[in-house]
Amino acid sequence: MEQTLILVKPDGVKRKLAGEVISRIEAKNFDIREMKMMTVSRDLAEEHYGEHKDKPFFGGLVNFITSGPIVAMRVEGDGVLKIMRNIMGATNPAEAAPGTIRGDLALTIDENIVHGSDSPESAERELGLFFG
Ligand code: RTP
Ligand code: MG
Repeated sequence: MEQTLILVKPDGVKRKLAGEVISRIEAKNFDIREMKMMTVSRDLAEEHYGEHKDKPFFGGLVNFITSGPIVAMRVEGDGVLKIMRNIMGATNPAEAAPGTIRGDLALTIDENIVHGSDSPESAERELGLFFG
């Protein structure tokens, strides 16, 4: 069965939106197989976002994701990768559709509340990092 890694990022936890994100996953009837609150180390952050290491925003992204507790989830269901990306909305909240998590709740691309794996390969790699 298809699986994805979902993170409620530090801004989402700080704003007490973890329950809102979890509710949207449950409302879609996906299965949360594992869930934990944790603080991401710099090593884990750099590994997780390794694909972006040469981008100008990499340093800020690592600082942000390590800045406070997150909630990590292993979520399972048919089509969960694509469907969760749809539920999250576009990376930039200014372009995210109303009804999506980012469209409804986020204001800036740097603090966009939620992460979801973007492919089966990413999901396997990221789930190994957070739940392996
Ligand atoms: P995520 O990995 O966090 O789920 O987000 P995503 O797939 O929608 O976006 P991605 O391209 O993987 O970028 C990861 C995070 O980096 C920040 N970002 N900033 N300033 C910029 O142009 C820029 N582009 C990306 C965002 O916070 C994004 O979530
Ligand atoms: Mg991404």
